[in-house]
Amino acid sequence: MSKKRKKVLVAGATGYIGGGVLEVLHGQGFWVRALCRDKNRLRNTNWCDDIFMGHATQPDTLKGLCEDIDVVFSSIGIHSFNRHPTFWDVDYQANLNIFEAAKASGVKHFIFVSVLHASEMARLSPLAKARDQVAQTIMHSGMDYNIFAPTGFFNDAQEFLDAAKKKGVIRLFGDGSSIYNPLSALDFGEEVARVIKEPLLRNTVRPVGGCEKFSNQQMAELVFKILGQEPHIKSIPIWILTLWALALRPFNYNAYALVKFFEFTARTPDMTGEAIGHRHVEAFLRNLANGMSLVEADRALGSWNESRLPIDAKG
Ligand SMILES: NC(=O)c1ccc[n+]([C@@H]2O[C@H](COP(=O)([O-])OP(=O)(O)OC[C@H]3O[C@@H](n4cnc5c(N)ncnc54)[C@H](OP(=O)(O)O)[C@@H]3O)[C@@H](O)[C@H]2O)c1
Repeated sequence: MSKKRKKVLVAGATGYIGGGVLEVLHGQGFWVRALCRDKNRLRNTNWCDDIFMGHATQPDTLKGLCEDIDVVFSSIGIHSFNRHPTFWDVDYQANLNIFEAAKASGVKHFIFVSVLHASEMARLSPLAKARDQVAQTIMHSGMDYNIFAPTGFFNDAQEFLDAAKKKGVIRLFGDGSSIYNPLSALDFGEEVARVIKEPLLRNTVRPVGGCEKFSNQQMAELVFKILGQEPHIKSIPIWILTLWALALRPFNYNAYALVKFFEFTARTPDMTGEAIGHRHVEAFLRNLANGMSLVEADRALGSWNESRLPIDAKG
């Protein structure tokens, strides 16, 4: 059996999801190349075997990106109310640029992070449509793939914590009854490592989430409990989201796409995915409340699983 280390490109490596994936892959012995625009945004440059400086939105800066790479992972995306760049520039085109670079270099396996219920949501929100179209392109390309469609990650819950700390109030979209199972980036990274090592797990689209379910109302209450504050939770009715999106559409397409995304999640009673991982969001939020960074808060819940070493190049 060959003992050659598999080489993985991580695009989105400076973000929460890609950073967690990179950390786990490096920890489990993969050779990892990180794509980034700014090295200082990487969790730890020592975890990268190679750093490729490039802009995913500019294909001319990506020449050589996927040379000698076995597997490409991408979680590049925006969730911004700024007008530019748009979801089509980043969530769609930047990911396609990476996919084209992978194809050109003969990469055999592409792993992409979409969003939960992307196909259903695509009719409502351009954000979901952009990611769903990338997923469809990959799936119909003939290349091996894994499309993950996650529910919210732990960094979403951090937004509740920040709102409660800074404003003393958490605003929920809809009545807060929609249920989800938040996922740690490190738990997700372990699953990514698994699908790289096991060829039988390829060519699937999987909705994924964490090990515990919460309604948004329960998550908001948990955050106030952790902070030792009286819960102050307000609801933004769905009809307001609908009107808000309509008003935003003519002059801020990104904001429109995001509000439509929130509207979909508020309207959907079950936003859970298949439970993967073991890390608990309450412990994560307590770590954040005690002053840890996002990365420290995640890692303090248990290191990635080293037991699956060594990595070989089969498949
Ligand atoms: N987090 C969640 O709860 C969640 C759940 C389901 C699906 N997703 C999907 O996963 C994506 C990533 O989530 P995340 O939490 O990891 O987000 P994040 O922490 O904001 O990371 C986003 C990544 O995309 C890169 N990026 C953004 N704009 C770019 C641009 N114009 N050009 C090149 N790179 C750019 C960022 O690079 P820089 O550091 O250089 O900006 C960063 O590496 C989301 O956009 C979403 O579509 C997220």
